[in-house]
Amino acid sequence: MMEPRLPPPALAPRPAVAASLRSASVELHLVSLLEPASFEAEEYRVLRHAVETLHKDAHLQIVSVTSPGMGDGKTTTAINLAGALAQSTDARVLLVDIDLRRPAVARHLGLAHSKRCLLDALLDPGVKLEDTVEHIARFNLSVLPAGGPEAVPYEILTSPRLEELLNEARRRYDFVVLDAPPFVPVPDCRLLTKCVDGFVVVVATHRTPRGMLAETLNLIDPAKLAGLVFNGDVAPRSSYYRVAEPTPVARWRRPWRSP
Ligand SMILES: Nc1ncnc2c1ncn2[C@@H]1O[C@H](COP(=O)(O)OP(=O)(O)O)[C@@H](O)[C@H]1O
Ligand SMILES: [Mg+2]
Repeated sequence: MMEPRLPPPALAPRPAVAASLRSASVELHLVSLLEPASFEAEEYRVLRHAVETLHKDAHLQIVSVTSPGMGDGKTTTAINLAGALAQSTDARVLLVDIDLRRPAVARHLGLAHSKRCLLDALLDPGVKLEDTVEHIARFNLSVLPAGGPEAVPYEILTSPRLEELLNEARRRYDFVVLDAPPFVPVPDCRLLTKCVDGFVVVVATHRTPRGMLAETLNLIDPAKLAGLVFNGDVAPRSSYYRVAEPTPVARWRRPWRSP
């Protein structure tokens, strides 16, 4: 049975949050937010289109952005994907930092420490989703910072409370983008499998070891592999896009499947 659709928890920016978000503090490579007309941002719209298509065709709603290891570009990709989805003014988009050991979204977005965060809501059932989400009106984007860091998040990530919070997010948002932990070094991301509809795997071009990528793809349920993003791929010169120099971009690829 379809659950009733609720409005997002915060429709107006909280003044403290709006004031804390200065463009100078948003990391410059978050092109979907800062330079939506750029060639690099166009690549994230390719990813947005793929996610929107899977949303329509396969009910993809909670998408987890992961990668084999640290530093591959998960946070960068998750924020840019969420920002690209949020460019549609009627889309309700929530970006959740669920990398509890190495939270980064709040820092990348220049958000001041909010009173409540995901970790608070996971540990205390009295803290509701709407107590934790910050709405950034200028980007049409809602953000749930992780809090923490939490050194050993296993029990927290396996608790029914996480499922409960994500189900609440499903009712309130069209898209929930998770900035997830890496897949190989820790079990954290594997614990999210039952709660998410699909994984986007970020591969850092010329950096992510082939063996770690193979291990990640073996560990992910093939039915939940939405696709791959090759981060830092160098785009060829193109007069059509008026790109003067080769530029690092994130390229989307659909998953390959063994016959
Ligand atoms: N496409 C990109 N263009 C520019 N810098 C990037 C890009 N992707 C990642 N980075 C930089 O690389 C570093 C690691 O990226 P990050 O997204 O934090 O990785 P992860 O979340 O996988 O650890 C950060 O300093 C980030 O600014
Ligand atoms: Mg990260």
